[in-house]
Amino acid sequence: MVEEKLKAVIRDIPDFPEPGIVFKDITPLLQHPELVDLAVKEFVKRLSGIEFDLIAGIESRGFLFGFLLAQELKKPFIPIRKQGKLPYKTVSESYKLEYGQATIEMHEDAFPAGSKVLLHDDLLATGGTVVAASKLIEKVGGEVAGFSFVISLDFLQSQGRLTRFSEKIISLVG
Ligand code: PRP
Ligand code: ADE
Repeated sequence: MVEEKLKAVIRDIPDFPEPGIVFKDITPLLQHPELVDLAVKEFVKRLSGIEFDLIAGIESRGFLFGFLLAQELKKPFIPIRKQGKLPYKTVSESYKLEYGQATIEMHEDAFPAGSKVLLHDDLLATGGTVVAASKLIEKVGGEVAGFSFVISLDFLQSQGRLTRFSEKIISLVG
């Protein structure tokens, strides 16, 4: 099973980046091209029922599989970045995440109004990051068509925070 194969290479790092957090480290997965390929193919399979025009990935770990997936599906890729990194005019949102707070930004001309956007990130914890990203997409007239994650930390029960944007939520692990 894909989930078991991925779980076998994702490691838990206790107390990173602060005490009490169990950090899910996907770097070992990146050292296995055959498993990366398996993950991308599984995303493609599970996304087949979702209609979308482009994929937005969230800095930085959301760029890894988000960009691969966009290339595989021949869809445009939009980077959502941490504050101060994008060079053109941006929209921005501040939010809280499992271990701190941050601001993310997107170019205001990233896609035409009315576009359907698949939002991708490596991991869903509290949902703060993807809720902020969803707000950015709606600010410029886009529609969130669905969410894809490599990992979802179910114990935080955050998927409910996403359903007001889209009920289509895909997670390969958890
Ligand atoms: C991590 C992860 C998600 C977010 C999830 O990103 O990649 O984007 O936290 O947490 P949440 O659901 O509680 O919002 P981080 O901000 O650590 O940045 P990184 O990808 O650059 O490591
Ligand atoms: N982002 C937010 N919470 C995380 C966790 N527990 N592991 C890895 N990335 C995260």
